[in-house]
Amino acid sequence: TRVFEKPMSNSVSNGGARIIVEDDDEILSPTDLSEMLAEGTKESHDRAENCQFVKDFLRGRIKRELFKLGTAALYFVYSAMEEETEKNQDHPLIAPIFFPTELHRREALARDLEYFYGEDWEGQISLSAGTKPYVDRIHEVGAQDPVLLVAHSYTRYMGDLSGGQILKKVAQRALKLPHTGEGINFYQFEGIHSHKGFKQLYRSRMNELELDAETKQRIVDESNRAFGFNMMVFTELEEIGKTIKEEVKDAGFGHSHAEIMEGG
Ligand code: HEM
Repeated sequence: TRVFEKPMSNSVSNGGARIIVEDDDEILSPTDLSEMLAEGTKESHDRAENCQFVKDFLRGRIKRELFKLGTAALYFVYSAMEEETEKNQDHPLIAPIFFPTELHRREALARDLEYFYGEDWEGQISLSAGTKPYVDRIHEVGAQDPVLLVAHSYTRYMGDLSGGQILKKVAQRALKLPHTGEGINFYQFEGIHSHKGFKQLYRSRMNELELDAETKQRIVDESNRAFGFNMMVFTELEEIGKTIKEEVKDAGFGHSHAEIMEGG
C-alpha cells in the first residue's frame, strides 16, 4: 500500500496567478491542471448527470439486464484504458498518475460479469456500437498521444470515486444485490481507504506533471470528449432499455411514488 502524500505541490509559484485557497490544506490555482479540469468539464458533468439514463439510474429505475450491459460496456472501456496506461506506465507524464493497485477496475469488473453472466461471461458479452468509438479513441490516444490518457483516467476514476459511490448504493438496493458486494465490485475500491484523501493525492499528482498551457488545454478538451463518449454509452443503454420488458422491482427510492410522479 502507498502512503498518502499531502498535496503540497498545488503550487503557489504561478507567476502572479490568482491563488484560491480552499479547505485548510488545499491551495489551488486556476492554472493547475486539476482546477482547469474541474472548471473546464463542469458543463459536461451537468449534462452527464442530467441525461435520462443517469437520472433513471439515480431513481433506482435500472433493469437488471441493462445494468449487466452497462457493466460489460465498462469492462471494455477499462480494459482499454488500463491496457494503454500499462503500456505507457514509464512515460514521465503517465508514471505519476499510474495507480494500478488503487484504481484499476478490470479485475473487479470481470468478477462482476462472472457474477451476472456465469463462468462463460466472456463468451456472452460483446463490444457494443455505442461503446466502440470510446474504446477506439482510448487505443488511439495510447498509441499516438499518451499524455491524453491523463484525461481519460481523470474522467473515469475521479468520477468513480465521487458520484460512483452514490450509484453503488442505488444499484445494490434497486437490484437487490447481496451485501457481500457481489455485482458491484466495480464501485468498491479495496486499495483506497479515504476517497477524499486519494482524490487530493491524484489532483496533486496531476498538478506536478510538467505540462505547458497548450497541453493542459488539450487534456481538458480530451476530458470533455471522454464525457461525450460516456454519454454515447448512456444513450445507447437508454435506447436498449426501452426494448427490455422487465418490471422494475419494488426497490429503489419510493418506486411506486416515483411511478405516479412520472406517469409510470
Ligand atoms: C465529481 C456526482 C456522474 C465524472 C463528482 C462529485 C460529485 C459527483 C458529488 C464531486 C466530488 C468532489 O467534489 O469531491 C455525480 C453524480 C453523477 C455523476 C451524482 C450521476 C450519477 C458522472 C459521470 C462522470 C463523472 C457520468 C463521467 C463519466 C466526475 C469527475 C469528477 C466528478 C471527473 C471530479 C471533478 C473534479 O473534482 O475535478 N461527481 N457524478 N460524474 N464526477 Fe461525477
